[in-house]
Amino acid sequence: MNFTYNGQPSRVIFGAGSLQHLAREIDLLGAKRALILSTPEQRASAEMIADLLGSKAAGVFDRAVMHVPIETAREARELANKLGADCAIAIGGGSTTGLGKAIALDSGLPILAIPTTYAGSEMTPIYGITEGGVKKTGKDPRVLPRTTIYDPDLSMSLPVGLSVTSGINAIAHAAEGLYAVDSNPIMDLMACEGIAALARALPAIYKNASDKAARADALYGAWLCGTVLGNVGMALHHKLCHTLGGSFNLPHAEVHTIVLPHALAYNQAAAPQAMQKIAKALGVSESNQTTAAQATWDLAYNNGAPTSLSSIGLQESDLDKACDIAMQNQYANPRPLERVALRALFQDAFEGVRP
Ligand SMILES: NC(=O)c1ccc[n+]([C@@H]2O[C@H](COP(=O)([O-])OP(=O)(O)OC[C@H]3O[C@@H](n4cnc5c(N)ncnc54)[C@H](O)[C@@H]3O)[C@@H](O)[C@H]2O)c1
Repeated sequence: MNFTYNGQPSRVIFGAGSLQHLAREIDLLGAKRALILSTPEQRASAEMIADLLGSKAAGVFDRAVMHVPIETAREARELANKLGADCAIAIGGGSTTGLGKAIALDSGLPILAIPTTYAGSEMTPIYGITEGGVKKTGKDPRVLPRTTIYDPDLSMSLPVGLSVTSGINAIAHAAEGLYAVDSNPIMDLMACEGIAALARALPAIYKNASDKAARADALYGAWLCGTVLGNVGMALHHKLCHTLGGSFNLPHAEVHTIVLPHALAYNQAAAPQAMQKIAKALGVSESNQTTAAQATWDLAYNNGAPTSLSSIGLQESDLDKACDIAMQNQYANPRPLERVALRALFQDAFEGVRP
């Protein structure tokens, strides 16, 4: 029972309809001119926020894209300066929150996040910026959003496919948190509760995308899993997804969904207690022989998510290169990186076999 727990200051407003508290939350930040960020697809949501804020909305920047290109970050920073913005509101998924973080990194501007996916970036001090085709990530407390408004009503429009993969992306944070070298009992509680909430919610959303209770459950799980991501170190699974996303330009949530069962299978024997907790949180009973790896694969497969890297555009000829990149940096992982086993992992993920 030796651990370090580092509480990170962030205020969370949760619940259906909680967007109504936006103006109050902006006041509490001491802000008067908010720059609102979104992707082009979510421009209407950003405008809705601007209408809600009235004179406290300084402008809308709707060019957030995946992986935060430095050029986009610079444009958004310049606009924030020009408008005299004293806070940024990021409405959307991890890409939009990531753009907010890039502004905060440079200016210290407080961020208020309104997440509409389950990626969890709003709970972490981790940022990523892509320059010259290379995504650099780092940690800085300045980029952690000061306030997050989780309003499940805003996630109702998230397409079912992305809801399932984004939810499994969240589960991946919690699963790796359970075998992190710097884990602690509080994060373990949050991880198990987060996985359980998402394991309940995703099948219900798959059946009925408008199920309000399931949407709330999923967002609650996303909050917990995002908090785990922000507090303890990730391992093999996240490194593999970073490699595949960055070097082969594959979609973030889908890659997480496909790789997770295989990363868990790789670590199964080296982290048996964590695997038991993951399986239990996924609803596997003690008498059932299903492993955590199999249960995550089943969750994806039974809810219409892709299970193979081949189905999302990776070429079989890329597998050796992916394995080489993944072997380059050694990092904390329950089981050491072994080339032959890792190459087999990539093959299984490519083919989409059940572990
Ligand atoms: N720094 C961190 O801690 C952290 C954590 C998780 C993810 N990320 C980053 O976030 C990015 C992925 O984020 P993501 O998976 O949330 O995807 P995303 O933000 O790229 O969103 C995917 C698409 O879904 C749309 N969308 C989002 N919410 C919607 C809604 N409710 N209704 C309709 N459309 C909606 C977006 O506009 C976008 O077009 C990656 O770049 C990843 O590296 C960072």
